[in-house]
Amino acid sequence: MPDSLSSSIRGEYDGAATEYDRRWARYNRASLALLRPWIAGRKLGRVLDVGCGTGNLAGALAEWGAAVDAYVGVDLSPAMLDIAAPKLGAGGWPGAAAAGSALALPVATASFDTAVCASNLHYWPGTGAGLSEIRRVLRPGGRLLLVDWDRAPLRMRVLNLWMRRALRVEYQRMYSRQEIRALLHDTGFRVDHEARGAAGVIWRLAAFEAASIH
Ligand SMILES: C[S@@+](CC[C@H](N)C(=O)[O-])C[C@H]1O[C@@H](n2cnc3c(N)ncnc32)[C@H](O)[C@@H]1O
Repeated sequence: MPDSLSSSIRGEYDGAATEYDRRWARYNRASLALLRPWIAGRKLGRVLDVGCGTGNLAGALAEWGAAVDAYVGVDLSPAMLDIAAPKLGAGGWPGAAAAGSALALPVATASFDTAVCASNLHYWPGTGAGLSEIRRVLRPGGRLLLVDWDRAPLRMRVLNLWMRRALRVEYQRMYSRQEIRALLHDTGFRVDHEARGAAGVIWRLAAFEAASIH
């Protein structure tokens, strides 16, 4: 990822951090809820939250009764991580956060059982580099839970054009479900489950539970 792109995303989220939870509450609730069937009451072991933002996933893990040994969040934006700090150990487990990029995760190889990637894929270059990096840090057979925008519905294709051309929002690209499935396959994941959903009237979302195959 070019440094200029990382720094503009970091700048955008550093500026948005204090308002983020209030402004995006509905979207965040709906997007994370798509992952709930793969989280509620499950043993997740050591969890890495890639692009953790303000750490809302940690609260959801606690609320949904997941068995978590430790939670680590990684994000480009120090200001988002400041908001996340009090939430990291929400379920009484050890919680930590690190500033860094999904494309060069500052954690050891094969050191996590579960990785979560919520509303992040669209920021990464389309080569699957972030997914390969997640696969590196997962133990063999570890699970990836991913939720992101689904470009396939017409309203999302219109939104894509509008955000990119008129608003000039900083993201790399919006994928269809088929494209996400192919990226997962190409970076060494087996897709076990897939779900579709929505956040409000605009956002159409796709979610995947995948296992790393080594
Ligand atoms: C839309 S927010 C989602 C936050 C959180 N995952 C959630 O669902 O509430 C996107 C977050 O991804 C982070 N981000 C974007 N690109 C990233 C990258 N390459 N590495 C790490 N974090 C990144 C941003 O800083 C921001 O905090």
